[in-house]
Amino acid sequence: MHEIRTVAVIGAGTMGHSLAQVFAQRGYRVWLNDVREEALPRAQSRIAANLGTEVELGLLEQGQKGGVLDRIRTTTRIEAACEDADFVIEAIVENQAAKKKMFSTLDNVCPPRTILASNTSFMDIFSFVETGRPDKVLITHWFAPPHIVPLVEVVRGPRTAQDTVDGVTALLIDVGKKPIVISKFLPGFVANRLQSALTAEMLFLLDNGYATAEDIDMATKASFGMRMPILGVVKKVDFAGVDQIQRSFGNGLYRSPPHRQHSETMDRLVSQGRLGVKSGQGFFDYGGRSPEEIMQETNVKLIRLREFLKKLGEL
Ligand SMILES: NC(=O)c1ccc[n+]([C@@H]2O[C@H](COP(=O)([O-])OP(=O)(O)OC[C@H]3O[C@@H](n4cnc5c(N)ncnc54)[C@H](O)[C@@H]3O)[C@@H](O)[C@H]2O)c1
Repeated sequence: MHEIRTVAVIGAGTMGHSLAQVFAQRGYRVWLNDVREEALPRAQSRIAANLGTEVELGLLEQGQKGGVLDRIRTTTRIEAACEDADFVIEAIVENQAAKKKMFSTLDNVCPPRTILASNTSFMDIFSFVETGRPDKVLITHWFAPPHIVPLVEVVRGPRTAQDTVDGVTALLIDVGKKPIVISKFLPGFVANRLQSALTAEMLFLLDNGYATAEDIDMATKASFGMRMPILGVVKKVDFAGVDQIQRSFGNGLYRSPPHRQHSETMDRLVSQGRLGVKSGQGFFDYGGRSPEEIMQETNVKLIRLREFLKKLGEL
């Protein structure tokens, strides 16, 4: 496989700006593309702020910041972004028609060697993209914010070559990520399936008045949530005893909530404009602080936690 040196990130929004940062920080040349001109300087200033946080936390030298920013070139012309790209990640809107069109464009503007990845969260792109290089197409599903959260789910399509999976996995390890390979598409892959199960249970508990939002989050953080970074969900079964979990799984006392596609609590919050951090209130009240301030505070905590887990050898 051709060595990957130049990466193009298509879409400079929530995910795209941070993806560009990940590769530039490890020395790769990066092109960042967006259809909206104004998205590009905004992405650059978000990256500069992210790097500033890393400098404050002692994870990056002040003198290295300029080099990272210089390695990221921005353009609204997708041809310019892709003409010399070895690896492209599209992080545009989660819409089937837009992704389909994007892959056809990428097929035309990228050299034949280029690997094309989608950052889709739930879409089976393999069923609808039209490309002359199905062996070089796959999903890399990152987690927000990509420059902080280590996991990347690498999902192979029915025609993705083993070389492509191996090359991309090696690239992800090289940029400090924790890739896992998912051998065939299923909606939500691994991490979002586990999260979705928890979200469905959380909404069931809230809608039926079993516990408050505060208490549900305390139950999460102060019990299995605290164990999870050390044990995960599978090893936890070993620690409890496989036979014990077999018995409790088999006794039928736990029933997962009935499948439904709405929640009274969530509908009420949305109708009140309580959309979460971005509107100052959601399930919780954020006391008039700006979303940027709240996100920044959380990001710093997440970086500290990640570094601590690395020291423990858990990441
Ligand atoms: N936000 C998350 O937490 C998250 C997590 C994992 C995966 N994803 C996936 O990543 C993708 C991007 O999500 P996001 O949250 O960054 O979206 P976003 O809306 O913040 O950013 C998308 C960007 O793509 C640009 N864009 C749209 N069409 C384009 C085109 N044809 N060419 C170039 N740029 C184009 C938009 O102008 C925008 O700046 C989606 O597929 C989403 O499902 C998001």
